[in-house]
Amino acid sequence: MAPHEFLCSAKILIVDDDENTLALGKTLLRTAGYTNIITALDSRQVLAHFVEEDPDIVILDVLMPHLNGFQLLELLQRSAPGGLSLPILMMTALPTPEMRHLALVGGAVDLIGKPFTAEDFVLRVRNLLNIRLAFRDVQQQNQVLFAELLNRAEEVADYQLELNEAQLEVIARLAHAGEQRDDQTGKHTQRVAVTSGLIAHGLGFSAGKVEVLQRAAPLHDVGKIGVPDSILLKAGRLTPEEIRSMQQHCAMGSDLLSGGRSEILQLAEDIALSHHEKWDGCGYPRGLRGESIPIEGRILAVADVFDALTHERPYKKAWAVEEAVAEIKLQSGRQFDPQIVEAFMALRHEELV
Ligand SMILES: [Fe+2]
Ligand SMILES: [Fe+2]
Repeated sequence: MAPHEFLCSAKILIVDDDENTLALGKTLLRTAGYTNIITALDSRQVLAHFVEEDPDIVILDVLMPHLNGFQLLELLQRSAPGGLSLPILMMTALPTPEMRHLALVGGAVDLIGKPFTAEDFVLRVRNLLNIRLAFRDVQQQNQVLFAELLNRAEEVADYQLELNEAQLEVIARLAHAGEQRDDQTGKHTQRVAVTSGLIAHGLGFSAGKVEVLQRAAPLHDVGKIGVPDSILLKAGRLTPEEIRSMQQHCAMGSDLLSGGRSEILQLAEDIALSHHEKWDGCGYPRGLRGESIPIEGRILAVADVFDALTHERPYKKAWAVEEAVAEIKLQSGRQFDPQIVEAFMALRHEELV
């Protein structure tokens, strides 16, 4: 709506206990082109009018029976907890400085003395409606800006989601590439991830930490990408040199994953390096002992060995579940952290293979 249209159709509420003043005000405004004028003779009805009609300006007499202009002003202010967004013009036959002060303190924007000239009255109303119009424009602009801001926030959230999905997909594909090197069925790393997550849950890890561990765990053997097939798929015993070469997969994996910025990649790097360390310090590659091995690496060690024992490998047959569980228990305090073995013992082992 163009400004002049808004001004002409603006809703004007005039409140006065004197019918002549109301009629005069109405006539003056009509003559000036305003078409939407409401009048109220009884001050007790003003609040209802105000709420129902949502006027653009209120012209309020000061001296009235029942509720005077200042009491009404206070009522109107209380009806709008966020503050009145429309101008209030007060009129009085006694426009003293004290009266003016009271009106302004109460939240009115102007006070006009009665009797007033036609020109004075109409000009004041026009000026105040211009303020109202400017305020309304600012409000509308704020709404548009707020809507744009919301849109942007949604776009950023969508982008973030897409990025996260892409990242998770790359991680899963990387894990799969490593896995295919030594596990024909392609399920070893997934089972190790599930078992690790269950152990972590049993140890009291938060749901978020369990999820990060489950996402990172499939990457534990990704360094096997760099181990030759002749060693990886060898059916017989490995020579000492082949064993050393095989053991390189920990360092190769952590090198491959190093420098990642996501929590998943950082944890995967730690796990790749530490999942063959042993509680008693006899593991590799660094011979770490006890709690100096990251807890996630200790968890992976149990899950990894259990899965390796219960499945066939080029160099061995699959063990029965109870035999594998007995072996894990036997290695508590030697190869494995006793606390983690305890959490593993509480799981339903048949469901893990
Ligand atoms: Fe490994
Ligand atoms: Fe493994």
